[in-house]
Amino acid sequence: MDVKEAIEKRRAYRSFEPIEITDEMLKELGTAAQLTASCFNNQPWRFVFVRSKEQLLKMREVFSKGNSWAYEDSLIIAVFGKKEKDCNIQEREYYLFDIGMAASAMILRATEMGLVAHPIAGYSPEKAKEILGIPADNMLITLINVGKKSDKINPVLNEKQAEQEKERPPRRKLGEIYSIDTFSAELDK
Ligand SMILES: Cc1cc2nc3c(=O)[nH]c(=O)nc-3n(C[C@H](O)[C@H](O)[C@H](O)COP(=O)(O)O)c2cc1C
Repeated sequence: MDVKEAIEKRRAYRSFEPIEITDEMLKELGTAAQLTASCFNNQPWRFVFVRSKEQLLKMREVFSKGNSWAYEDSLIIAVFGKKEKDCNIQEREYYLFDIGMAASAMILRATEMGLVAHPIAGYSPEKAKEILGIPADNMLITLINVGKKSDKINPVLNEKQAEQEKERPPRRKLGEIYSIDTFSAELDK
């Protein structure tokens, strides 16, 4: 699979079937993050790979109501870091950008490996950090829910979520996300 195909194939699916997560797979995902660019090569990204049945069960209590589809995860990637571990140039705090880039590389590599890797914001960061032993002064930026795509639509999904299993949610037009040479009013839409 080339990058273009991985970008096109990546979807935030919510219907999973179980898949065994090996140490080799975790190494592949970790390496995708490791090689990512960062400000001053600061590499602020940190991850906990949650793989054991016991921890996955405990993590069920952190998800928001609409995210109970994540109970079927085979792996959760907790993505976190600290502002002080990266460049802070006037108002520009680069840790979220750099960690986001690393997470994106990981998600694309997961896609190439035949996995679904679905990041979420709907969870309790306090509870999740407690369960995983992540020190409170870290920002838990996302949980990436990993599984193998199931053809059977997860019965816990609402109508909109079920629809999104079949069709990618609509995107802004290209003219609304980039302009050439100068800023266009379309970008302010
Ligand atoms: C930062 C972030 C937070 C998200 N939070 C949730 C969430 O809490 N629950 C959920 O089901 N999907 C969540 N998503 C997935 C988006 O809804 C999804 O990426 C978007 O609808 C586009 O669909 P696609 O990724 O399949 O193209 C989140 C995605 C991102 C990047």
